[in-house]
Amino acid sequence: MSNPAILRLGSVKDPLRFQEHLRSLQVDVPCDLELAPTADSPFLLPLQRSGIKIGNRIAINPMEGWDATPDGNPSELTYRRWQKFGASGAKLIWGGEAVAVSASARANPNQLVMAPHTRENIARLRAVLVAEHRKTMGSDDDLLIGIQLTHSGRYCRPHVHDHPQPRILYRHPILDRRLNLPDDYPLLTDAEIEAIIEDFHSAARAAWELGFDFVDIKHCHGYLGHEFLSAHTRSGKYGGSFENRTRFLREIVQGICANAPGLKIGVRLSAFDTVPFRPDPARSSNGKRGPGIPDDYEHLIPFNWGFGLDPQDPTQADLTEPIRFLSLLEELQIPLVNLTAGSPYYNPHLQRPALFPPSDGYLPPHDPLIEVGRQLNVARQLKRLFPNLIVVGTAYSYLQDFLPYVAQPVLREGWVDVVGLGRMTLTYPEILLDVAQGRPLQHKRICRTFSDCTTAPRNGLPSGCYPLDSHYKNSEMMVRLAAAKAKR
Ligand SMILES: Cc1cc2nc3c(=O)[nH]c(=O)nc-3n(C[C@H](O)[C@H](O)[C@H](O)COP(=O)(O)O)c2cc1C
Ligand code: SF4
Repeated sequence: MSNPAILRLGSVKDPLRFQEHLRSLQVDVPCDLELAPTADSPFLLPLQRSGIKIGNRIAINPMEGWDATPDGNPSELTYRRWQKFGASGAKLIWGGEAVAVSASARANPNQLVMAPHTRENIARLRAVLVAEHRKTMGSDDDLLIGIQLTHSGRYCRPHVHDHPQPRILYRHPILDRRLNLPDDYPLLTDAEIEAIIEDFHSAARAAWELGFDFVDIKHCHGYLGHEFLSAHTRSGKYGGSFENRTRFLREIVQGICANAPGLKIGVRLSAFDTVPFRPDPARSSNGKRGPGIPDDYEHLIPFNWGFGLDPQDPTQADLTEPIRFLSLLEELQIPLVNLTAGSPYYNPHLQRPALFPPSDGYLPPHDPLIEVGRQLNVARQLKRLFPNLIVVGTAYSYLQDFLPYVAQPVLREGWVDVVGLGRMTLTYPEILLDVAQGRPLQHKRICRTFSDCTTAPRNGLPSGCYPLDSHYKNSEMMVRLAAAKAKR
């Protein structure tokens, strides 16, 4: 199911036509007609800033697999994925994937957990990645590897995949309804928050002892760190003012500096947002979900439940607070920031632009390139204001065959410092290394944004590229995924 009005990029013949297509949509992103030879490739330029060295401009963005063992250890599928991260040639591994700071903080029962009984195997994950990276690149010099630490907050599902156990900071007039939360559903107390902060300290200390270069204190996609930033209506020391809403981050950072001196810190941030979307009921029928429209919000103005959006028109971004947040990162001497947007739960068209929606999503409300353009332009705006931060960009996979043609001028013109790959990593992790080293693009391996990697976990299956990765194709998992899709 896709929207027939949207031009499929697989049918666009060359970068010149793609440029024309971008112009027709008024999407302001650059696109080169040729890829630079190896000696001039911006993808291969090393980066050195704030005591950090990164050997090239390619990053792997965090990609969780829902395939850890029930006690939070990696499975063979997890090792396989981290091996692919290593084979990508990327010199920045941003987080690998979301790793919960405790078993109860998981977003699904198959998420990795940082705990005494998983340490050895999480170290092995890192080792597998490094070994593969060495094979591809000849050495692991200037390879920077972080781990993304998370508490899933509103989206906790720690034990059973279809049994959510939300931990919330405040009442959200739309999201509480979607999660069927009664009016007296308990909020996390300040004391519970303090205990979670201690879990972050212990997890960061473990990451440091295991040889990771940095930890990402995740502040994106509607999970707990991100929810703090929009806790305008919460009372007490973790809600209300900007200072209170960022106390969670500041207290985590303080503890890391004390417990893991020398460990670098990064933050993945949903830098802007929009109201929750839903399928348009007027254009949905026979179980088929129509195009996305904003959920009813007109009666909720000023909209006090978001971060990086305009309270008077919450469908629009407002970067005032995100800019303040990046200033805070500088004050806290956090050198690394990874910019993303929105949430896969309430506005997936913004967070991971796709032609085909995930099973709990909706058809794209407009051409997904518009959202790609928004993410790239917000990153550009923020990078201009914060030249000293190392900024990683997101949302390139929808560009498909034209990803390298866009990423190349984006880097050359300094829109971001490093280009981060998400879904493309699951199908074709070496895409940028191939073009930078003069090899032809392998069109058959391009991610076509089928969204099965999101639909599968929504149905209790491991994530992965079911359509293109031979491991999943024709597997028993594929049969179960097809059955789950047919039921909807
Ligand atoms: C299957 C899947 C798993 C993901 N896991 C994570 C994660 O663990 N942490 C995170 O910050 N983002 C996660 N993301 C979001 C991606 O990192 C990325 O922001 C998003 O896919 C858009 O980038 P892309 O266009 O390159 O795919 C995930 C996305 C997908 C599709
Ligand atoms: S399932 Fe594969 S092709 Fe589809 S979005 Fe995910 S990575 Fe891309």
